[in-house]
Formats: sequence, C-alpha cells, structure tokens
Amino acid sequence: MTPPTIEVVTPDQAQILADLHAGSIDPPWNREAFASLLGQPGVLGLLARGDGGPAGFILLRQAADEAEILTLAVGPAKRRCGIGKILLSEAISRLSGLGVQRLFLEVADDNAAALALYRQAGFSQVGRRPDYYRRAGQGAANALVLEKRL
Ligand SMILES: CC(C)(COP(=O)(O)OP(=O)(O)OC[C@H]1O[C@@H](n2cnc3c(N)ncnc32)[C@H](O)[C@@H]1OP(=O)(O)O)[C@@H](O)C(=O)NCCC(=O)NCCS
Repeated sequence: MTPPTIEVVTPDQAQILADLHAGSIDPPWNREAFASLLGQPGVLGLLARGDGGPAGFILLRQAADEAEILTLAVGPAKRRCGIGKILLSEAISRLSGLGVQRLFLEVADDNAAALALYRQAGFSQVGRRPDYYRRAGQGAANALVLEKRL
C-alpha cells in the first residue's frame, strides 16, 4: 500500500469526518458536531488520504501543555494497514512541537484494537469511568483513561 498523505482538516471537511465516523463509532458524530469542534480554538484534525480517498482521521484538542484525543477512526476497509499508527504518530509529533507534555484519551475497555494501538504507542492507564459509554447496539461500556507523556 502507498503510504497515506496527511493533511490538516478544515471546517468545510466536516462531512468527510462524519462519514468516516459513521462506519467506526457508535453513536457517530454528525457534520454539525465536527464543524463546531473544528471551529474551536486548540482543536486540530488530521486526515489520512490513500489511493481511494479519505481513509481515516484523528481529532485533538490542546490546552496549554496538555492535549486529548477527541476521536480517531479509520474506515473499515482500510484497517490493519498502519493508518491508525501513522495518524497517532503524526499527531504526537505535532503536539510535541507545540509544547504539549501530556496526551490523554478515553477508550472503551472492550475496544481491543484501539487498546492495542495505544499501548503499542506507549500509553498507560491512569483512570477508569464505569458505564461511561452508552451504545445503541450493545450495552454500556467502561471507559479507560490513558495517558502518554510526550
Ligand atoms: C482503532 C483503529 C483506529 C486502528 O486503526 P488501524 O489503521 O486499523 O490500525 P493500524 O493498522 O495502524 O494498527 C496499529 C496497531 O494497532 C493494533 N491493532 C489495530 N487493529 C487491531 C485489531 N483489530 N486487533 C488487535 N490489534 C489491533 C496492533 O497492535 C497494530 O499493530 P500491528 O499491525 O503491528 O500488529 C481502527 O480499528 C478503528 O477505526 N476502529 C474503530 C474506531 C475506534 O475504535 N477508534 C478509537 C476510539 S478511542
């Protein structure tokens, strides 16, 4: 596979993020939600584009020397090709350059793929929120709070 190109997302690309999210997260966020987030200070989106078009994205929010991953999604047909790892690595590199020292995220404790990705990238658990996620198709899930020191 040709390595994807990574570009900074602009608010007018909110529908692309909503489309990728719809195939990845339950419940998905819509175009308006992404447009609103992308208009907020400190929010940065990175979009991976492959041969077939948009393949995945990561959305981050920075506040001083801390940041959080708001969401990360790779289209189902593009998974296990290294795109999630590339997006995470690019995000970490950019945040480091902006002076961020601690990066946080929340992930469902039954999301094996994401947990493996984050652990491989050096994140460790710093908290747990019982029944944090309410999902349409499944029961509630606990959230794990992970941190990586940059
Ligand atoms: C989690 C997600 C972003 C991973 O994206 P991806 O492009 O498939 O991940 P990569 O190919 O870069 O994989 C990197 C590492 O993550 C781990 N990983 C990824 N998918 C995995 C899976 N299905 N099972 C186990 N480990 C997995 C592996 O350690 C992998 O490294 P390896 O290929 O060397 O074994 C993708 O599965 C996704 O979009 N899932 C739905 C949305 C989601 O859960 N987002 C995270 C919310 S916190």
